[in-house]
Amino acid sequence: MAARVLCAQAFTRPRVSRTLTTFLRLYTTPAPTPSAIPVLGKTYPTDAYTNITPAIVSKVSRQLHLQDGHPICTLRALVEDHFADFAHLRSVSPLVTPYQNFDSLSFPEDHPGRSKTDSYYLNQDMMLRTHTSAHEVEVFSEGKERWLLTADVYRRDEIDASHYPVFHQMEGAKIVSSDEAGVQAMEEDSRRLEHELSQSNIIIEDVPHVSGTNPAQPEHDPRHSEIMAKNLKLSLNSLMYKLFAGVAGATKEDPLRVRWIEAYFPFTSPSFEVEVFFRGKWLEILGCGVVLQSTLDRANVANEMGWAFGLGLERIAMILYSIPDIRLFWSEDPRFISQFKAGDITTFKPYSKYPESYRDVSFWKPQEGLHENDVYDVVRDIAGDLVEDVKMIDQFTHPKTGRESMAFRVTYRSMDRSLVNDEVNALQEQVIERLREHLRVEIR
Ligand code: PHE
Repeated sequence: MAARVLCAQAFTRPRVSRTLTTFLRLYTTPAPTPSAIPVLGKTYPTDAYTNITPAIVSKVSRQLHLQDGHPICTLRALVEDHFADFAHLRSVSPLVTPYQNFDSLSFPEDHPGRSKTDSYYLNQDMMLRTHTSAHEVEVFSEGKERWLLTADVYRRDEIDASHYPVFHQMEGAKIVSSDEAGVQAMEEDSRRLEHELSQSNIIIEDVPHVSGTNPAQPEHDPRHSEIMAKNLKLSLNSLMYKLFAGVAGATKEDPLRVRWIEAYFPFTSPSFEVEVFFRGKWLEILGCGVVLQSTLDRANVANEMGWAFGLGLERIAMILYSIPDIRLFWSEDPRFISQFKAGDITTFKPYSKYPESYRDVSFWKPQEGLHENDVYDVVRDIAGDLVEDVKMIDQFTHPKTGRESMAFRVTYRSMDRSLVNDEVNALQEQVIERLREHLRVEIR
């Protein structure tokens, strides 16, 4: 299988200079598939599911959310500060079972998120979490009723200034006993939040807490479900105000605008998305909802109910700090990190914009087919953070032979220095070689 071969080659690539690598590649045959991959001090046997690459493995130990002064770390602390009486979890391994990531949350068997083209697998039994919701059952089962969990999550995706295969999420959850006492406690908290928000300069476009298209769960008293959804909305409106009021207006003439949208997640109902109006555009900030009762049953807290949300940190940090490219978060250049001080949100000053350089590649797809994400991982694995953007620029089927052709434009640019032509050529040459050898494309 293509992805497996890709991985085999990638893991055995010698850690030597690029010139020497190029030389060796010409004079050695690819090594056999490694039978095991080391990640975070443990070794995992590979199988037909294995698609994790060294570029990804190199990220699992970085922990940007714990790096003092890093924007992701400051933002994490800011959200924790807002939910001060919640448990704050920050050090949970990214390696989870597909059961944790999907089944424990009642994902259907055929959900696309499970596929190898969307998620990174070490093997069929172990993967990198695609969202922090993967830990809901284990945290609820520890008896925690109010908690925040911050962690790195991994998704195979396109390559551009706002997509990176690793990013950070914060899962927040609050549950109470589903009897009158618990429900009343939620209502009381809502009254407090409502009062607080009534003094804030915020305009909220809302949707019903519960409706025919966004229903209460059959296990729930619909009135209780309304109360949970209302508390969820107030809690998050209040967080949005804390995060954005300073930057997205919130003057008398220009209040902060927050919009609620009906959504669907396999593990909440009703479900919502929150968007914030910023510089003329609605930005999607988070997903949330009333926790599915089956999740709480699995966690052995069947007589509780409540809400959960999942917040992506990079997108918010890019806005708050004016960081133009998501790769910058991973930069180890002192000119990046030295600009920031723990606890302060300041405007990023680009230290320089180095020239870009693009190369196109077109090829015939192999017989067995090819997913765009396989192409993106090849480029990431070879060029690392020197790749800024990859776009499919052409696709057609030959009218006579029926063969499919694809063309991609790869844009290279370093965040930290100028790239020389020879270097870009060498990278592109390696990309082409890898596409040919491991994804079995025929270069046109
Ligand atoms: N896990 C969801 C995501 O990553 C977000 C979410 C979290 C939605 C909790 C509902 C409840 O998109």
